[in-house]
Amino acid sequence: CVQIILGLIFGYVCGSIPFGLIVSFFGGTKDPRSIGSGNIGATNVLRTGRKDLAALTLLLDMGKGAFAVAVVAFIVWRRMPPDSVWPPYAPLFAAFGAFIGHVYPIWLGFRGGKGVATFLGCLLALSWQAGLVFIGLWLVVAAVTRFSSLAALLASAAAPAYLIYTKQQPRTAGLFVLLALLLWYKHWPNIVRLVKGKETRIGKS
Ligand code: G3P
Repeated sequence: CVQIILGLIFGYVCGSIPFGLIVSFFGGTKDPRSIGSGNIGATNVLRTGRKDLAALTLLLDMGKGAFAVAVVAFIVWRRMPPDSVWPPYAPLFAAFGAFIGHVYPIWLGFRGGKGVATFLGCLLALSWQAGLVFIGLWLVVAAVTRFSSLAALLASAAAPAYLIYTKQQPRTAGLFVLLALLLWYKHWPNIVRLVKGKETRIGKS
């Protein structure tokens, strides 16, 4: 129980680092909250015209999720009896904390991002196969439609579907069903724009 609470807190602290803002500030470009969708994620940083900063935001937002999960998993794994179920709860709570930290960071008055990159980072750390399903579908949908949001919505649904289908990690599947629901909730304005035909395509402002 202590491991779970510490994992959750550590995950939240890692996830709440607003890399999109930090990278934009030090990269000398506009605050992403003042342009496009107002989101602090890589898609909106790209609307500043800086591909390099967008790529860095993507990597760091993914990395903080993967880092939080990997650190907690490593600490817990060393103390686990050999016949325990994998993954234990603590890294799953670290993933949940990292996602919530990104979406509701205390430092920004709980107004954070939409969670796509952090979702993927946590997913890759827990199941690289499900992570590849996410990446593959995201790339295909983004290449065909040029909608980052639609790609994220479909990929975030496909990843837990894959985990449920393969029955490899029921706990991880349950967590990512929950995270996908939160991600869809945060994308509600995007869903409305997609339905109305008013969503902005990748690289457009
Ligand atoms: O990563 C978030 C993406 O799915 C949508 O971003 O800025 O177009 O709302 P945005």
